[in-house]
Amino acid sequence: MNMEHYEMVATTLFGFEETLADELKVIGAQKIEILNRAVRFEGDKKMMYKSNLYLRTALRVLMPISQFMIRDERDLYKKIQRIEWDKYLSVDGTLAIEATVKSDYFTHSKFMALKAKDAVVDQFRDKYSRRPSIDVDTPDLRINLHINDRNCAVSLDSSGYTLGKRGYRTAQSEAPMSEVLAAGIIALSQWDKKRNLVDPMCGSGTFSIEAAMIASNTPAGFFRNFGFEMWPDFDKTLWKQIKTEAREQIKKPEGKIFASDIDERSVTIAEQNAINANLAQFISFKKLDFLNSETKQNNCIVFLNPPYGERLKDEEEIIPFYKEIGTQLKHFYEESEAWIISANINALKFIGLRPSRKIKLFNGPLECKLQKYELFKGKKREQHQD
Ligand SMILES: C[S@@+](CC[C@H](N)C(=O)[O-])C[C@H]1O[C@@H](n2cnc3c(N)ncnc32)[C@H](O)[C@@H]1O
Repeated sequence: MNMEHYEMVATTLFGFEETLADELKVIGAQKIEILNRAVRFEGDKKMMYKSNLYLRTALRVLMPISQFMIRDERDLYKKIQRIEWDKYLSVDGTLAIEATVKSDYFTHSKFMALKAKDAVVDQFRDKYSRRPSIDVDTPDLRINLHINDRNCAVSLDSSGYTLGKRGYRTAQSEAPMSEVLAAGIIALSQWDKKRNLVDPMCGSGTFSIEAAMIASNTPAGFFRNFGFEMWPDFDKTLWKQIKTEAREQIKKPEGKIFASDIDERSVTIAEQNAINANLAQFISFKKLDFLNSETKQNNCIVFLNPPYGERLKDEEEIIPFYKEIGTQLKHFYEESEAWIISANINALKFIGLRPSRKIKLFNGPLECKLQKYELFKGKKREQHQD
């Protein structure tokens, strides 16, 4: 692959485009341009490796290789065949193709992916009388098609599987949140990495572990592998050097991180996940009912992802629950700030505190609100909602 300096596109979740652009700036990416749920940037091979390793709010780092208009599926087949695929994949290798389609002309993303796959494997068969095989889970090459109306962008997916999977979460409690969402929320809060951090409904520990990774300079992708490691031009020496540089930056976090949950199993899972990330010694785990805890946690930052109440029989149960969250924060978290994310927009209104920020986000398919609350000393008037 002749790719000294090239364009890349990092995809992300709705609402984190600017955060991702900031992250790219920090690692030295050039020509950063914000797109819809994605950020375009330029860099060399080192930047491609670094972006995969370091970016906390990216889902994938794509390398566009071709862009064209398509009239119909046959046209897609023809134009995919114009790409010299043996530059990127050996005939004995494996591939997978994913397609996203946003178009009035084409609707079935699976069908478009299938057509593109036929074009790739037929090219190999014509040339070598053999063809690479398909492996959807761990292919040597993952190809990404992005079809927008009649415009088709073909990219190589340098990440492999989604960067949202860091590799430390081997066990999951109920309704775990994506690592990218948790890291993105922590970034939006502008946490200074020093203030004590409380994660009182920790579930599988995502907020706490992401926070510990951030505070200890542990790169997001430190515990996983990437698609580019399977590419024919993989530079092992360069990759080793980047990983060594990253390892040397890892340090002990300054503030304390407290993770707790009412459910004992969740606490055990969270602790195991933190062990996997080599960060368990920096997080204190405890089984605790947040609503009945009398421990004062003044001057800290709290991240809460409470149950949304989809499974509770009716709103009557979830509203008092959210009311109590507000009361608890008011009484035991003076001079702190709390960030609450919930898809239950109605229940959020009953927290009883006035949010100083409201941000629209998505947790999977669910539209959510992330709300920030400033908690004052004593019973200041401002903290009550009118
Ligand atoms: C939506 S899940 C949190 C998922 C978490 N963010 C993760 O990534 O795994 C909500 C959590 O709140 C916990 N929970 C519910 N009521 C609680 C209470 N009163 N005190 C502490 N935790 C509670 C549940 O056990 C559950 O683990």
